[in-house]
Amino acid sequence: MTELAERIKNLPPYLFARIDGKIAAAKAKGIDVISLGIGDPDLPTPKNIVDKMAAEVHNPAHHQYPSYAGMLSFRQAVAEWHRRRGGVELDPQTEVLTLIGSKEGIAHISFCYINPGDVALVPDPGYPVYEIGCMLAGGESYKMPLLAENGFLPVFEDIPAAVVKRAKLLFLNYPNNPTSAVADGAFFRKAIAFAQANDIIICHDAAYSEIGFDGYKPVSFLEMPGGKEAGIEFNSLSKAYNMTGWRIAWAAGRHDVIRALGTVKSNIDSGAFQAVQAAGIEALLGPQDNIARMCAVYQERRDIVVEALNGMGWRLEKPKAAVYVWAPVPKGFTSESFAEFVLEKAGVVVTPGNGYGAAGEGYIRITLTIDTELLREALRRMEDSLGSVTF
Ligand code: MLT
Repeated sequence: MTELAERIKNLPPYLFARIDGKIAAAKAKGIDVISLGIGDPDLPTPKNIVDKMAAEVHNPAHHQYPSYAGMLSFRQAVAEWHRRRGGVELDPQTEVLTLIGSKEGIAHISFCYINPGDVALVPDPGYPVYEIGCMLAGGESYKMPLLAENGFLPVFEDIPAAVVKRAKLLFLNYPNNPTSAVADGAFFRKAIAFAQANDIIICHDAAYSEIGFDGYKPVSFLEMPGGKEAGIEFNSLSKAYNMTGWRIAWAAGRHDVIRALGTVKSNIDSGAFQAVQAAGIEALLGPQDNIARMCAVYQERRDIVVEALNGMGWRLEKPKAAVYVWAPVPKGFTSESFAEFVLEKAGVVVTPGNGYGAAGEGYIRITLTIDTELLREALRRMEDSLGSVTF
């Protein structure tokens, strides 16, 4: 058999591909599975967006190759969205790039800057794609531990000077996956100062920027002084508009970084389907009332999860944002053994925290992107099989 390339030999199956395998195996054993695993909104894409897509799909102009950087009208809509949201001024021609989902942009940015021997600073726990993109580019990731005692924020002063010297990219992600932690303006100002002092590009993944609770509105690092000069922000229609299946997102910010990412992308993909971009414009500039309704649904589910777990013995605070509850595992369990236990005994899939990195060990992640009644049922089953827990 033809030998795999070294970089693929070291590549683990994607976290949720692994979890899908476990779900299939449990179902084959006759277990009735409820998945609180992947963060994939159960709420439908708003009707105005679907209707726009249905009309645009008939336009023959959209049936040809899309423009590489994305339709200018989509990039203008992105710039307008940022202006309305936080007063950020962006040049749609040079400071915005359309992506086929932010996952590909996050993976490809390392190809723009990482040579063998270079370092990307990545959060641990963190979305696996930060590290995998860097690894595929031949670089090394330095894991910045996100610890509860630091509010799940990285401590830049703790990164060894020799690592900082080799670092080219700094990945950040707030509201955070998997911890649901949030970052304030002071943190982003610190990150910008650190990045500028050390010639490092910030890549901020803002996929959960629209999901805040109890009146909390997540901050964009592009809103900070010097933000636009310090790097780029990835944003996506996936979570804000329930469009994970549509694969539409963007990167915005520093123009030379946007240009580099566009150069890589234009050589390996041909842009997002233009009918999807047209629907994306409707999402960004059309009625936004769906967002408040969606946040209310997630907030209710957050309360259900936190209150049910606290009733079993956890002592969780309610997260302010994102679609996850990050919870320590009870005494005597690891992340994996607890996830296995809950799957075997309750038929409930949770994501083991170590799937997001070594610092995620000792935690599980529960997603709120599941029908509220099914969520209640999953929690009832967990309570029946666990009783009360100790830590
Ligand atoms: C998650 O659940 O962490 C993400 O939604 C998964 C992904 O984007 O692949």
